Amino acid sequence: MGIDLSQFIRNKAFLNKVVSAEEAASWIKDGMNLGMSGFTLFGEPKEFPLALSERGKNENFKVNLYTGASLGPTADQSMAESDIINLRVPYQGNAVMRGKINSGEMFYIDQHLSHTAEEVRKGTLGNIDYAIIEAAAITEDGMIIPTGSVGNSPIFVEKADNVIVELNTSAPKEYEGLHDIVVLEEQGERKEIPMYSVGDRIGDIGIKVDPDKVKGIILSEQPDIPSPLFEPNEETQQIADNLLDFFASEVEAGRLPESLAPLQSGVGSVANAVLSGMKDSQFKDIEVYSEVLQDGIFDLIDAGVVKFASATAFSLSKKRVESLGEDLAKYKDKIVFRPQEISNHPENIRRLGVISFNTPIEVDIYGNVNSTHVSGTRVMNGIGGSGDFARNARITIFVTSSLAKGGDISTIVPFVSHVDHTEHDVDVIVTEQGFADIRGLAPVQRAEKIIENCAHPQYKAQLREYFEEAKEKVGGHTPHMLDKAFSWHTRLKEHGSMLMSEKVTK
Ligand code: COA
Repeated sequence: MGIDLSQFIRNKAFLNKVVSAEEAASWIKDGMNLGMSGFTLFGEPKEFPLALSERGKNENFKVNLYTGASLGPTADQSMAESDIINLRVPYQGNAVMRGKINSGEMFYIDQHLSHTAEEVRKGTLGNIDYAIIEAAAITEDGMIIPTGSVGNSPIFVEKADNVIVELNTSAPKEYEGLHDIVVLEEQGERKEIPMYSVGDRIGDIGIKVDPDKVKGIILSEQPDIPSPLFEPNEETQQIADNLLDFFASEVEAGRLPESLAPLQSGVGSVANAVLSGMKDSQFKDIEVYSEVLQDGIFDLIDAGVVKFASATAFSLSKKRVESLGEDLAKYKDKIVFRPQEISNHPENIRRLGVISFNTPIEVDIYGNVNSTHVSGTRVMNGIGGSGDFARNARITIFVTSSLAKGGDISTIVPFVSHVDHTEHDVDVIVTEQGFADIRGLAPVQRAEKIIENCAHPQYKAQLREYFEEAKEKVGGHTPHMLDKAFSWHTRLKEHGSMLMSEKVTK
């Protein structure tokens, strides 16, 4: 490669461990549990999973793959294509892998992202045979410096029998100093997490590792993997404006200051566009306490809207991946990356009073939210951190367009076809139509507000009819006609649309 490795591997105990990806992949045996770095396509090893997938083309073996969150084409996709995954935990977002899960070719546990480290610590996911961790460097005192995510890497390294480091010599050197690594003690032996404000640093800049556990170091030059660019459009700008109207009403009511409260925003096109849409808002000096930082964060820092951001990973478009070295140099004092059990920890979310907004697949008239399953059966991505934040936030908001698939689907339905967040965890729903603040409202009052303020006009009459009929014919605290509750989903399946054409109101 013609590079001076001692710049990257600065502790001599590690220098003689360099091996090829193929050799490292040959150590993996059928049935092993692999804990791999990576979260929303950032910080994942690339050479190792490609070599393992290559092996899988000629050999029959399967592994259980545990990560921070979603991996990209070189890992989740290539491993799914080679059929070498038995079980995937705790989150994925790859179309090929999604197809294999939904066709029953592999198992998937869709888990709250703050829970995985606890499950590894308790041993419910079995022993971690190998941790495979992408690194920007190994320091003089033998710490692994992660790259664009922390995820579950610290607990994987602590608990694994063996560690493989994939040293990425193309990773920006500015990654060093970005991270704040803490590993929590066993439950029952634990004190509070001493983090009292968003910017507090409470750990080390890298992951401590016993050199004897490091079985090999693979070299890689593969750049970070970009996500699609999500440009705001008229509709997402309208959703952002409605969210900002809600924030303004909270400030006016004296419940929030002008700097709001630490903000968490979800993944995907709508959440990123909504965040970007806040660029010209009245709010300044906001802190972000989130899980993922998408493109919009840099513009918000430039605009003075955001003053500091804490997360566990980047999820960036190609343009931002290309300028990441420069951006990190510019923004590093305003960003910190923590392990996901810290970024998503209920204790911190509750203590800091985070305002959380995430994107659902569908919401029902009483405020239950489905974030994961299309028509109740086919998993899309996973719950991710949305449950960690929704249950514990100061204000829990779900933002979505009121329609999907060109209007054939109403995202406001009588009854969600899968429940990720219950009515008890949801405070505000925002669509391009408006916002429904359902705090302090009983179920029937909530239904009226959600239908009135959030549903698309073409579905309003249908929703009202369901609700009125349920009240009249069934009644109860939360009126539902169980024989008709999923008729919208069955109509979609049978006729390609949830719309009963005669009910259209403009
Ligand atoms: N029924 C069927 N499909 C729906 C749907 C609905 N009600 N709502 C959205 N979809 C489909 C879209 O049509 C699109 O499909 P396509 O890829 O075939 O075009 C896909 O879901 C993504 O929808 P999009 O409108 O582009 O939204 P998004 O990129 O903002 O993603 C989620 C929405 C729900 C998939 C995404 O936010 C997610 O996975 N959330 C769960 C995890 C989470 O909240 N994490 C954040 C914690 S930090």
